[in-house]
Amino acid sequence: MSGRIPKHFIDDLLARVDIVELIDTYVPLKKAGVNYIARCPFHSEKTPSFSVNRGKQFFHCFGCGASGNAIGFLMDFNHLDFVEAVEDLATFAGVDVIRDAAETQLNAVSRDTVNDQYQLLEHVAAFYVHSLRTAEAGKKAVAYLKARSINDELAQRFMLGYASNEWQALANRFDRQILIQTGMLIEKDGKVYDRFRDRIMFPIRDKRGRITGFGGRVLDDSLPKYLNSPETAIFHKSKEVYGLYELLRKQGKPKRILIVEGYIDVIILAGYGIDYAVATLGTATSQAHLELLFRFAPELVFCFDGDNAGREAAWKAMEPAFGTVKDGRQIRIMLLPKEHDPDSLVRTEGADKFTERVGRSQALSDYFFSTLTHDLNINELEGRSQLINKAKPYLDKLSPGVFKEMMFAQLNQLTRAGVLDVSADSATLRQQPQRRSERKDGIVPLPRRIAALLVQYPELIATVEHKEILWEEMEFPGVDLFKLIFTDIKEKKPANTAVLMELYRGQPQAKAVNYLAALNLFVDGQELDLTAVASEFKDAFEKLMDQAKKKAEFRALMAKAGKG
Ligand code: UTP
Ligand code: MN
Repeated sequence: MSGRIPKHFIDDLLARVDIVELIDTYVPLKKAGVNYIARCPFHSEKTPSFSVNRGKQFFHCFGCGASGNAIGFLMDFNHLDFVEAVEDLATFAGVDVIRDAAETQLNAVSRDTVNDQYQLLEHVAAFYVHSLRTAEAGKKAVAYLKARSINDELAQRFMLGYASNEWQALANRFDRQILIQTGMLIEKDGKVYDRFRDRIMFPIRDKRGRITGFGGRVLDDSLPKYLNSPETAIFHKSKEVYGLYELLRKQGKPKRILIVEGYIDVIILAGYGIDYAVATLGTATSQAHLELLFRFAPELVFCFDGDNAGREAAWKAMEPAFGTVKDGRQIRIMLLPKEHDPDSLVRTEGADKFTERVGRSQALSDYFFSTLTHDLNINELEGRSQLINKAKPYLDKLSPGVFKEMMFAQLNQLTRAGVLDVSADSATLRQQPQRRSERKDGIVPLPRRIAALLVQYPELIATVEHKEILWEEMEFPGVDLFKLIFTDIKEKKPANTAVLMELYRGQPQAKAVNYLAALNLFVDGQELDLTAVASEFKDAFEKLMDQAKKKAEFRALMAKAGKG
């Protein structure tokens, strides 16, 4: 929608701001040795394990593992996406964000039209509210809402309205061009007419409160029961959810978010004080939905209706669930009794019972394995091998971490496949212990130490960049990553660790580079002497090169001997 922010702008910004000053405005920091520390804002703790380093322009929590640069901090702390975080950081630094010149012209135009669209939908929503409250025909809509126990306060909170039974109510009042762009008008045979007629209108707002589209429900049993805005420049069903803005206005940091199927369910639950529910927009739950919601709460509860469609939808949600869940994120599954949706259930049982059910919802792992084993006989080898084949594609999607390992351990246990390495590419007989564990003495192996030094002090590249490096002869764990980092630093000369890390945002290497950036290389609190670090790095690097050279010579010798 808006022009790309050029890479060099982001690099300059990261080199210019001071992460200590930035974080200090959100979380008061205390100096401790070379670092600044505080109690971690990303998990609850009594003693500080959150530390910020000015030289690296990097924060890291030894407790929960959160880490990143200034952009990452703003994204995590304020629930922003990347561009929003860059914009906020620029504001903090007192500079204007620049956008790519080639696109700026074009985007100034499209930004205008997008703003016009938001503005129009705001007016349309107000018009629908007005029709609900004042028009003669609005009375039956009010009666309908009352009958469904949606009172005035709720209707206001969700900005509910009524679209009258006219073909041109909007067409005659608003800009037709923009009405078409936003999907509010349908164009047919050179004529236009309103998409929504004689319906209760539910405005769909994004997390910032801008109206992006509408849902509309009939007042009787006619079909289709619900109509939604079509996909437009500002309305994306697979990315937005219903009720998020209304939820965040009640509580900025909810403990959990409940994902239900219907708009009415969200509203009725809110009426019962359960104001942490959202609904998808008549589509299946997507990974983008989950990523969005995990920015606001660490736990998501999928709440599905008790009918067959609900049960099928629950299983279908396993794909996006396994794609987004990871350590620190929880997903639970709540299947309602047959013949119930959240609306009917909360009205039958009351809020307390419903909340109890939320608390008793199934952990993702439980639901997953019990659903899979339901139709299999795991007392037989055949059933157990089927279980492995069915479960593995899901488990493979999980991000590396404790949860993934425990899920594989569970699969192993269920299938008694103790000798099978079910986490391998295809389940194979296990030949080696699964993982090399960290050294217990806390000593970092040489190649990893060199890589970490380079990540934490990118300027060290100057001491070795002129050397010829026999990459083919280098053989140690992580050599590919080291080569990548080395080459990137040599070519791009990042000003500090924060700028370097920006190269890997969203890349598979991001996690490993973060790990190297956070690795504790020195005795705690010790002030660092850069010349000492530089000479250590140079010596260690040369040792590595020597090893490679010896290997090359040895190979040449063997080749000769082979010929002879
Ligand atoms: P349901 O049919 O379960 O309706 O559709 P509901 O939420 O219980 O609504 P009420 O109680 O009858 O009013 C659930 C969701 O599926 C989408 C809507 O988003 C709805 O909220 N849907 C349903 C459609 O998009 N189109 C339809 O025709 C029906
Ligand atoms: Mn319903």
